[in-house]
Amino acid sequence: SQSESSIDERLRAICELLEKEITYYNWVGFYFKNGDKNELKLGPYVGEPTDHIIIPFGKGICGQVAISNQNFVVPDVSAQDNYIACSITVKAEIVIPIFVNGENIGQIDIDSNTPNPFNEEDERFLEFVCEKVAKLIA
Ligand code: SME
Repeated sequence: SQSESSIDERLRAICELLEKEITYYNWVGFYFKNGDKNELKLGPYVGEPTDHIIIPFGKGICGQVAISNQNFVVPDVSAQDNYIACSITVKAEIVIPIFVNGENIGQIDIDSNTPNPFNEEDERFLEFVCEKVAKLIA
């Protein structure tokens, strides 16, 4: 079985690859359910450091996805009321949940400095990435 550090290294490598290869993916990170608590905790990421290590369920785009179990594509973050800003350069965000045995255990969160950059191809691709991540951490 994989050690925890090895899993985190692999998750960070996935973040690095996505941020490097896709020009409009500018911050790429994972949030995971924090034990039994109704909150998310920041996992491996690349991009600007964020103050938002813990996000309560329901709060921000990430916290909403923790409850809705649905993809959340935000073409324009300035139009969102329930949004947690990490950087003033961010224009758009996409969050895709990660399911293990049908349970929403976390998510991949991507910020873009380009307005309205995400389409259905990003959703399908990131769903595929999340399925691979689910197998890695299960
Ligand atoms: N913008 C997110 C918070 C996480 S940062 O983007 C890294 C949100 O509204 O939930």
